[in-house]
Amino acid sequence: GPDPRLAKIASSIRVIPDFPKPGIMFQDITTLLLDPEAFKDTIDLFVERYREKNISVVAGVEARGFIFGPPIALAIGAKFVPMRKPNKLPGEVISEEYSLEYGTDTMEMHVGAVQPGDRALVVDDLIATGGTLCAAIKLLERVGANVVECACMIELPELKGRDRLGNKPLFVLVSSD
Ligand code: PRP
Repeated sequence: GPDPRLAKIASSIRVIPDFPKPGIMFQDITTLLLDPEAFKDTIDLFVERYREKNISVVAGVEARGFIFGPPIALAIGAKFVPMRKPNKLPGEVISEEYSLEYGTDTMEMHVGAVQPGDRALVVDDLIATGGTLCAAIKLLERVGANVVECACMIELPELKGRDRLGNKPLFVLVSSD
C-alpha cells in the first residue's frame, strides 16, 4: 500500500481558495513547513528515492524549489543550483522563456554552474501546466546535463502538466484534483 507518511504530508498542505485570483485553489506548503515531522518525511521520501541514483546536481526552481531542493541536495551529496526569475543572478546567465496563463516569464541559470554530463534532478513544490519544469529542463539540457527526473510535492493532474514533460519522468508525493 501507499507509504503511511504520505497521508500526513497531504493533510499538512493547506488549500486556500481564490488565491492569488478567483478560481485558483492555492496549494500552500507553508503549513507543511510548520510541522517538522511532515517536513522531514517529505525530504526523506525524496532522499530515499534519489540517494542511489548518482545525481550530481539538484536544480531548485524559484521560489519554493529553494525550500525543498537544498536539504535533498545535502543529503544525497549533490550540488544545488538555483533556477531564478530574470535579473536576479549576478553572473553570466542563460535564459529560457516560457508561457504563463497570460503572457510569458523567463527563467535564468548561471553559466558554469552545471557541466556537460552532470546528472540533474529538478525540484519544485508543484506542477500545474508544466511550463516551469519544462523551462528548467531546457536550460539544463542546453548546457549538456542529463535530466534524470523532476520531483514535486504536488501535482494538479487536471492541468496535464505531466504530458508537457514528454518522456521525462516526474515523481510527485501528492495528487490534488
Ligand atoms: C508556482 C509553483 C511552480 C509553478 C508551477 O510558482 O511553485 O513553480 O507555479 O506552474 P506551472 O506548472 O503551470 O508552470 P509561482 O508561479 O507561484 O511563482 P513563485 O514560486 O515564485 O511564487
